[in-house]
Amino acid sequence: MKAYRLPAFNGPRSLERVDLPSPEPGPGQVRVRLRAASLNFRDLMISKGVYNPRLRLPLIPLSDGAGEVVAVGDGAGRFRVGDRVMSAFMPGWREGEPTEVKVRSALGGEVDGVLAEETVLPESGLLPIPEHLSFEEAATLPCAAVTAWNALVQTGGIRPGHSVLVQGTGGVSLFALQFARMAGARVIATSSRDDKLTRALELGASDGINYRTTPDWEKHVRELTGGVGVDMIVEVGGAGTLPRSTRAIKLGGYIALIGVLAGAGDFNPIPLLMRNIRLQGIFVGSVAIFESMAAAIATARMRPVIDRVFPFDQAVEALEYLESGAHFGKVVIAI
Ligand SMILES: NC(=O)c1ccc[n+]([C@@H]2O[C@H](COP(=O)([O-])OP(=O)(O)OC[C@H]3O[C@@H](n4cnc5c(N)ncnc54)[C@H](OP(=O)(O)O)[C@@H]3O)[C@@H](O)[C@H]2O)c1
Repeated sequence: MKAYRLPAFNGPRSLERVDLPSPEPGPGQVRVRLRAASLNFRDLMISKGVYNPRLRLPLIPLSDGAGEVVAVGDGAGRFRVGDRVMSAFMPGWREGEPTEVKVRSALGGEVDGVLAEETVLPESGLLPIPEHLSFEEAATLPCAAVTAWNALVQTGGIRPGHSVLVQGTGGVSLFALQFARMAGARVIATSSRDDKLTRALELGASDGINYRTTPDWEKHVRELTGGVGVDMIVEVGGAGTLPRSTRAIKLGGYIALIGVLAGAGDFNPIPLLMRNIRLQGIFVGSVAIFESMAAAIATARMRPVIDRVFPFDQAVEALEYLESGAHFGKVVIAI
């Protein structure tokens, strides 16, 4: 089978094409013929060695895959040959709280990922694809969507009438926008580009703020909320945006700390306590969280936003496209 491997931490260009033997499913496992994989910012960080420089190489990259079952190992009975399935980001985190062992099962990290024609996975770490979704759409869900769902629904307890700030228009942020609208919440979106803000409004955001032309966007957020601030922030900027987020959030609000896109910055923790802010780190989510999100997506017939689908032989170009930041939503590779 054809696959890509990362032999060194030199960025997307270091990916190499390889031919590997078809993997055999062991007890409790199934073999999946992958049809699509989606990219996450993490995959860029992994390729450069900035995510975890101690990862074992060579590594098959990417965590998010969808395909069909082609073989079933001993004792595996949940799926049959031909079933359409999608991979969980951490197949070993079935439910409950994360542990060191559970989080080490993350695909495309300590365990080989899905940028290959075939893979073998434990059946407990696979989910059936909602009927209305294509392989490409299903492949967008395991990391970005589960993270957004965990942040807003599972951990955040979002309710109708809440207001949510989403930063930028990448994978996590657009899923957060869509889930917040499904929950009956108001969404304020930021972006570096006005054309992307127009598209965010079309997806249901009530307001858009260009964080390049309006660098003090937190003031604008307060104005838009009657001087109060938003109930929730999906914080993908990290240290570089957190100081402004602590001023854009309402007293007693909730910030889901997810990403590090805005680089380093000085962070003063005093506003957190003076304003009674709940700052919660989110690390994707369990298979059980993925299952409840998939059920909601199926009921709402919600569709992920795919910016572009690259062919398998342009995997490097796909990662470079993600790196350019030109995308709106998810970047996918057809396999
Ligand atoms: N904790 C977790 O479990 C978890 C899971 C998934 C992702 N993440 C992290 O979350 C972040 C987003 O991941 P992703 O896969 O959604 O990335 P992505 O699809 O590559 O999104 C990148 C987008 O973020 C926006 N952005 C960049 N710098 C920004 C800034 N300073 N302020 C506001 N927006 C900014 C840009 O949107 P515009 O072009 O609209 O400006 C950019 O296109 C990454 O740091 C990733 O590592 C964490």
